[in-house]
Amino acid sequence: MFESDHPLITSLYIVAAVLFIIGLKMLNRATTARRGNLISGVGMLAAIVATCLLKGMTFGWILFGAVVGSAIGAVAAYAVKMTAMPEMVGLFNGFGGLASMLVAWAEFHKWRVEGWVKYHQLLGTGAPDSPLFTAVATVFTAIVGAVTFSGSVVAFLKLGEWITGKPILFRGQRWVNAALVGMILVTAVLMVVRGPQDITGYGALVVVIVLSLLLGVTSVIPIGGADMPVVISLLNSYSGVAAAAAGFILLNTGLIVAGSLVGASGLILTNIMCKAMNRSLANVLFSGFGSGEGTTSAAVQGEVKPISVEDAYYILEAARSVVFVPGYGMAVAQAQHVVRELGQLLEKNGAEVRYCIHPVAGRMPGHMNVLLAEANVPYEQLVEPGDVNPVMDTVDVAVVIGANDVVNPAAREDPSSPLWGMPIIEVDRARTCIVLKRSMRAGFAGVENPLFYKPNTRMLFGDAKATVSALVSEFKSE
Ligand code: TAP
Repeated sequence: MFESDHPLITSLYIVAAVLFIIGLKMLNRATTARRGNLISGVGMLAAIVATCLLKGMTFGWILFGAVVGSAIGAVAAYAVKMTAMPEMVGLFNGFGGLASMLVAWAEFHKWRVEGWVKYHQLLGTGAPDSPLFTAVATVFTAIVGAVTFSGSVVAFLKLGEWITGKPILFRGQRWVNAALVGMILVTAVLMVVRGPQDITGYGALVVVIVLSLLLGVTSVIPIGGADMPVVISLLNSYSGVAAAAAGFILLNTGLIVAGSLVGASGLILTNIMCKAMNRSLANVLFSGFGSGEGTTSAAVQGEVKPISVEDAYYILEAARSVVFVPGYGMAVAQAQHVVRELGQLLEKNGAEVRYCIHPVAGRMPGHMNVLLAEANVPYEQLVEPGDVNPVMDTVDVAVVIGANDVVNPAAREDPSSPLWGMPIIEVDRARTCIVLKRSMRAGFAGVENPLFYKPNTRMLFGDAKATVSALVSEFKSE
């Protein structure tokens, strides 16, 4: 067993940190993402081995935790439906926060029972001489961990529609949150000043945890379901910050590095999603988006023009350039394979085929990319809104497959719309737009879509998979 500054331990942590960074880097391309994930996993294994080799470690519990945790993770990953992935990620973030919070509490308790000098030695990590440092790290970890846990549970419940996805708003909500933050800060100072030996100091930590759990709930309930991915990504970042802070209590380099990487990447993803919706993080967190309050949309004008599969076939058959725009409905219908087949038939027919993916289409970042990759759509055919929008007027047919909010022109045309300002895929500017969905129901944001009433739009009602399969059959029978 080795001291924490033994070269073997340091080397293992450095190897783990390097593998985390390489793995993370590889996640930014679909072709290397799987390997990147594996490499990061190997990095985590190196960090666990290093921790097990530390002086004073009891293997039994670590092994027990690793086996039980891996089994639950594996079963959950296999069992979860692709469409429920965001909920699962949200819940896992929450558990990360909970783990950090429990580490903070357990270490504070150990310090109380053993006294600073003995606790200091027990850490076996050349712990800092300053109890103040450890106390501040402890309370910070407890606060961020608890907020992450309860916030993630609320996000999980909202996304899974166990509770209403609408913002839950009440009078004086911001004052309640401000008061909670104030109380947490005062109690945290009390905890740090009194320390664990004094029952007031110990009690203060418990109060901080309870108040922070409450703060997690009250800060996520006013956020609408449509904004949950952003919240989940932010909470993911918090869970990393909590883990890094826990690393400062235990003085564990691996934990500090891994936590910081999660914290930073979560923040970057949050920023990307806010930009994709043309909204600030403050607007996402505090505007109560989707509550329907103060958001009146201009009356939609025009007439809905339903068409048959046969009519759609004739339009597509004559098209020279086709852009598919997949959305959440394609995931629900699991239509990606038949969409790919239709794309191939259109190519054979001489059309240029592209798949335009909006960054927040579906229910999780990269949702559409994952589905289309599963159906072996070539990466070169995947394009971003910025590639297609400038030349949308030259597109013969835009085929919208179960997308709604991400193609809603109200974002461009109606300043009173809740979607106003969100960058969209401008399918309404294509020569013809065919929309595949089952009814006239609104999308996730609950906002009516004027696209369906535009003169160049045709509605092809039905389940996306059945409809696209029927189109494929039409092409094959000709
Ligand atoms: P949505 O606006 O949610 O619209 C999906 C449409 O698919 C619905 O209007 C629905 O209409 C249709 N649909 C459902 N099942 C179908 C089926 N079996 N066959 C055919 N159509 C079907 O989807 P979107 O355009 O992808 O936009 C995503 C929305 O979710 C945005 O508001 C976004 O902010 C939010 N969001 C995004 C994420 C991320 S990160 N991607 C995560 C959570 C939420 P019918 O019921 O009439 O069929």
